[in-house]
Parts: sequence; structure tokens; C-alpha cells
Amino acid sequence: MAKISVIGAGMTGSTTAHWLAEREIADIVLVDIMEGMPQGKALDMTEAMPIIGKDVSILGTNDYADTKDSDIIVITAGLPRKPGMSREDLLVKNANIVGSVAEETIKYSPNAIYLILTNPLDTMTYMTMKKTGLPASKVIGQAGVLDSARMSAFIAMETGVSVTNINCYVLGGHGDSMVPLTRHSNIAGVPLEKYMDADKLEAIVTRTRKGGGEIVGLLKTGSAFYAPSAAIAQMAEAILKDKKQILPCAAYLNGEYGQEGIFFGVPVMLGKDGIEKIVEYELNDDEKTALQASADAVHASVETLKGLVEL
Ligand code: NAI
Ligand code: 2OP
Repeated sequence: MAKISVIGAGMTGSTTAHWLAEREIADIVLVDIMEGMPQGKALDMTEAMPIIGKDVSILGTNDYADTKDSDIIVITAGLPRKPGMSREDLLVKNANIVGSVAEETIKYSPNAIYLILTNPLDTMTYMTMKKTGLPASKVIGQAGVLDSARMSAFIAMETGVSVTNINCYVLGGHGDSMVPLTRHSNIAGVPLEKYMDADKLEAIVTRTRKGGGEIVGLLKTGSAFYAPSAAIAQMAEAILKDKKQILPCAAYLNGEYGQEGIFFGVPVMLGKDGIEKIVEYELNDDEKTALQASADAVHASVETLKGLVEL
């Protein structure tokens, strides 16, 4: 059985473990700094396995030695947003947390592929690549699977069509300037404009961009966790099963989409080596302009990070 260690056993971390166990693709280690909490959640989940019929070992721990030889490390450790906060407001505190998690975990699993969830996502993924020293192909940020799923869910709610027929693609940084690509999205191959008028579609684009904030506003005590962690589970399965699945993820760009030196949401092929290919869409001028605005925000965040920590 493969091994996945999830660092941060809070809302997204524990829910990631839950979705992973449902998929029965790996044994799971849940790590947190809080004593007893990861142990308690892991034991509770272990006691659910006979009910759902999955043979998965789930270990809760405060000791990084237990993560030894993980195939995948998932980083969710860090603070979530409260109402009124942007993802960028988390940068200072989460940079220290993610930096130390990256340094601790790489000691025990030098061959792991890293999946990052902690916000601000694109910058924390950059931080992880720098702190682990891993090649860019093995460090992947989760944003686009979630943002695209949100858009698909809103389209399904509007049209009544099965979510399995809806293909949406949201690229760019994981901030409010993310870019829902309406022209490339479709319902069973039919353009979205055939199903709804421009105003309705524009409202869905806006709701998608602000989707994270909508949940924060409702929960008041934290941010979304079911859909973000389901996204991590899908990415992990694509890697462990070497599926060559194309998913929108934050990948380090070296000139693709006209960007260099940042992690940014683009379609990538996931397989056993991590990011095996970056897929380039043909974009029109409006789409390029929107992506550039989103990239500018990510570049600014990375510059802030560089002023804060030694990389
Ligand atoms: P949470 O507060 O429920 O859990 C975070 C956990 O990290 C806590 O249990 C805390 O004790 C732990 N932690 C803090 N420092 C640690 C350290 N040094 N080592 C190990 N564990 C440590 O927060 P939640 O909801 O799980 O969110 C986690 C992060 O994920 C936040 O930054 C949030 O903004 C981000 N997020 C990103 C999403 C995305 O799409 N990229 C979606 C949802 C959340
Ligand atoms: C979200 O989009 C908090 O970034 C997280 O829900």
C-alpha cells in the first residue's frame, strides 16, 4: 500500500484523510502540533473502516518520524481565513508554518510528491519547493480542481444537468482574480452560452471567484473543507494510479502561459512522477489579460514572501 502523510489535522487535513480512506489508495498518517487531536481523529476514522469496508491504516501522531517514506506529503498546516480576511492576510503566519513543515517532512521522505493546500496557495507552494529543494514537477498546489468544481456545481444548480456532464476550467492564482475560462468550459460538449444568457453566466463567474469567501462568510469560524480536501484526494489518486489525468493545479511556470518564476493554476497532466506535462490552451486577448492580472497578484505575493523569509 502507498503511504500518504497529511500535515495539519484540522478541518481540511482530517477531511482529506477521510476522502483518501474512502478511495482506499494509501495508508494515511495524520500529523499535527496539537497533542491528542490527530491521534483521536485517526482512531475515530480507524473505527469507521469496518463499517465502510476499507482496509486502510490511519495513524495520528505529533512525530514527523512517523511520516518516513511517504509517497505523498499533503500540507494543510496553517491558519484559515476568518470573515473579512483575504488569503494574502495569512501569508506571514503561514509562511513560517509551511517552511518548518517542509523542512521536517523532506528529511523523512526525500522522494515524496508534495500537494499543498495552505493559503496563500500559490506562494506557499513556491515556499515548499524552495524549502524542500525538490524539482518543480514534484511540488503541486491545489486550487484549480476546487475552483473548477465550484463553477461546475453552480452551473449544475442553474441548469439541472448532472455534474458529470459539466466541464469547467478555472485557471490562474487562487485569489479573487482567478480566471474562469467560460469559452473552454462546456456541458457535454455544448458551450455554456447555449444554456444560459450572458448575465447569468457572468454571475456564476463572479460567484466562482468569490466562492471561498462565500463559505467563510457562512461558517464564520474557518473556511471550506469538504470540497478542497476532495480535490486533494483526486490529485493523490491520479498520482498513485499513474492516471495521466489532466487537472488544473498550481504548477511552477518556466515561460508557459507567458509566466516565469511563480506557481500558477494551469492544466497539468498528473501521473506517478507528479506533474508530467503542462498543457497550454490557446487563449484570446481577453483571457490573456485576465490571466496576467491574476499572475501580477501572485508575483506580488511571492515578492512579499521573499522580503519575509530566507529562501
Ligand atoms: P484548521 O485550523 O482547521 O487546521 C489547520 C491545522 O494546522 C490545525 O489543526 C493546526 O493545529 C495545524 N498546525 C498549525 N501549525 C502546524 C505545524 N507547524 N505543524 C503541524 N500542524 C500545524 O484549518 P483548515 O481549515 O484545515 O485550513 C488549513 C489551511 O488550508 C488554511 O491556510 C486554509 O486557508 C487553507 N485552505 C486552502 C484551500 C485551497 O483551496 N488551497 C481550501 C481550504 C483551505
Ligand atoms: C477556499 O477557496 C479557503 O482558499 C480556500 O475555500
